[in-house]
Amino acid sequence: QEHRSIYEAIGDEKLQILVDAFYKRVASHPELTPIFPADLTETKRKQKQFLTQFFGGPPLYIQEHGHPMLRARHMPFPITPTRRDAWLSCMREAVFEVGIEQPYERIILERLTMTANNMMNTPEDEK
Ligand code: HEM
Repeated sequence: QEHRSIYEAIGDEKLQILVDAFYKRVASHPELTPIFPADLTETKRKQKQFLTQFFGGPPLYIQEHGHPMLRARHMPFPITPTRRDAWLSCMREAVFEVGIEQPYERIILERLTMTANNMMNTPEDEK
């Protein structure tokens, strides 16, 4: 029990439901639609692979795409504090919608918040 990864605790099926619930919100968020592709199919697929390994499951993202280098991969997109907040609010709502038991819910949101903070690359007035 103590050594279960977050990925095992959530389960693969619920992780997929979380990813779908998240991008459903991204697709209609006015701060996020300008920087995301209209078709999110491939984005979803990569995010599911990434979160699987981020939460301690098999390293699916690295196997197909190499080292994540997430900050570098986000450089083409102007990520302001407002967009960080928008991304996190979509994720928080998705996590609440799918329902994840504690302490996993709290740990997931903490880890995603730290990563989202690291993804900011543009001051508010330069977007
Ligand atoms: C890709 C935005 C935070 C993981 C992307 C893309 C955008 C984006 C626009 C490109 C989508 C595409 O072309 O398919 C943002 C914004 C964030 C944010 C606005 C706010 C802070 C995060 C965080 C994570 C993450 C916190 C991880 C926990 C990824 C991954 C990809 C991606 C894995 C796919 C990279 C690839 O092309 O292989 N993101 N992102 N992002 N994002 Fe984020």
